Amino acid sequence: MSQSDSAAFIAGYPLKAHNTFGFEVRAQFACRIEREAQLMAAVRDPRAAGLPRLVLGGGSNVVLTDDFAGLVLLVALQGRRVVREDHDAWYVEAAAGEPWHDFVAWTLAQGLPGLENLALIPGTVGAAPIQNIGAYGLEMCERFASLRAIELETGAVVELDADACRFGYRDSFFKREGRDRFVITSVTFRLPKVWQPRAGYADIARELAASEHASAAPSAQAIFAAVVAVRRAKLPDPLQLGNAGSFFKNPVVEATQFEALKLKEPEVVSYPQPDGRVKLAAGWLIDRCGWKGRAMGAAAVHERQALVLVNLGGANGAEVLALAKAVQRDVLARFGVELEAEPVCL
Ligand code: EPU
Repeated sequence: MSQSDSAAFIAGYPLKAHNTFGFEVRAQFACRIEREAQLMAAVRDPRAAGLPRLVLGGGSNVVLTDDFAGLVLLVALQGRRVVREDHDAWYVEAAAGEPWHDFVAWTLAQGLPGLENLALIPGTVGAAPIQNIGAYGLEMCERFASLRAIELETGAVVELDADACRFGYRDSFFKREGRDRFVITSVTFRLPKVWQPRAGYADIARELAASEHASAAPSAQAIFAAVVAVRRAKLPDPLQLGNAGSFFKNPVVEATQFEALKLKEPEVVSYPQPDGRVKLAAGWLIDRCGWKGRAMGAAAVHERQALVLVNLGGANGAEVLALAKAVQRDVLARFGVELEAEPVCL
């Protein structure tokens, strides 16, 4: 190991700036990873022997309920480039520590559209495949080519394609069998040269129609701007009000359960799925239970989007989880539907 491969271990490291809820917890040790070689050096450091590990990018999809008695790996790998092109597409690679939104803006500035619907999603490039981020009619997996990761047990570098990642709705291999086993170091996206706008999502269509450049064929830049405007209007900025985006997944129910629900609640917001099942808007269910804008201690259901739980200031993870439980209980009691948390709760 060369001198430059070793990364500084910091004991008792404060994680407030590394989780978007802004919880004031600490890590027993933290290590900032700026070069791939530092990763295995950190993992194999005797001080980390036997300790649990936590990989943090932007900390935008995690609920830290307590101090972390282990090693936090702060992935700060940087870099982005067009790696190749073929007849149909450009392939663009970004290091795991790049902020997601900046990367999206950069691709558009290079004249490479395709990620605009995913503008302003908090977090890093390396976190994007873990929950297969999605918004406004596009999921990351539709633009994914491959990723590079390091297996912590062996130090082996692996390249995984979309099949290996087993992407689903806010789901992947890395939330299941692969959990805690790999650190993603870079992701390569495939951006088709024939670009098709995705402007059908109601909020985006409305925003585009209202914009001064309204046109029948919106540009990627116009969609980007519309997504940014809609997100700013509805979703709280984690720097102002701690949150982890949607706290629950939109539940998917069987068609029979949906029909029964629809009889009782004709206005339920729903999206038919290709497999015949039906996805329900969890935000609507929570709103309907009267939770929108309500607080329990310093944790609250956001006043403009009931799917988002927020830290009003000084809340801890336990308070947010208690609120989440209360919301889940009411939704189950009223609609018979179980809500599953979207962020990783530790
Ligand atoms: N709704 C309400 N009340 C609310 C919130 C929503 O009635 O408080 C209704 C809306 O009127 C709308 C429907 O529920 O008819 C859906 O709402 P919205 O369009 O805001 O989207 P969502 O289903 O609540 C999902 C994603 C978001 C993503 C948006 C846009 C999940 C868990 N959430 O939210 O993703 O930005 O669609 O595509 O799938 C995230 O994952 O962190 C996230 C923010």
